[in-house]
Amino acid sequence: MRKEKFQFDYEVYESAEELADGDRNLLSMAREITTKAYAPYSKFHVGAVALLKNGQTVSGTNQENASYPVGICAERVLLASAAMLFSDVPIQTMAVTYHNLLGDSSKPVSPCGMCRQSLSEYQERQKEPMRIILSGMEGKVFVLNNARLLLPLSFGSEDLR
Ligand code: THU
Repeated sequence: MRKEKFQFDYEVYESAEELADGDRNLLSMAREITTKAYAPYSKFHVGAVALLKNGQTVSGTNQENASYPVGICAERVLLASAAMLFSDVPIQTMAVTYHNLLGDSSKPVSPCGMCRQSLSEYQERQKEPMRIILSGMEGKVFVLNNARLLLPLSFGSEDLR
């Protein structure tokens, strides 16, 4: 037996003010777009905005449903839109944030496992790293330089060969 270790570096900013201009703008757009979430059940309004390599932006918000499992997270709404609107254009950076109407919105959002799997494969498809900015409406901001860091030991297309 031997032990393996997985570790990764990410950046922690005390607030959005510390970010470089481009990242701060993207996060600011994501915070604004939380108002477009459809989340009448959880009241947890998530907004995601991505900057593409061609300079365009694509956004997504969570879309819930009275049949709860039918709901879709903001990240996957965004990825589906990007795949259709700009199929050959890599996503450079995605900012994800949330406004929790029932509680605190100051800790960086933690994407769900299904979104991590989706992000991982999208990055594989585009063959370029996708940076991920995670935040809330205020407070700390995490920046990861590669979306696959979110899902160690992940299942991917190679596993089906
Ligand atoms: N949600 C997202 O859209 N993205 C995340 O990263 C975390 C969770 C949504 C799913 C659901 O509509 C609500 O937030 C509460 O879980």
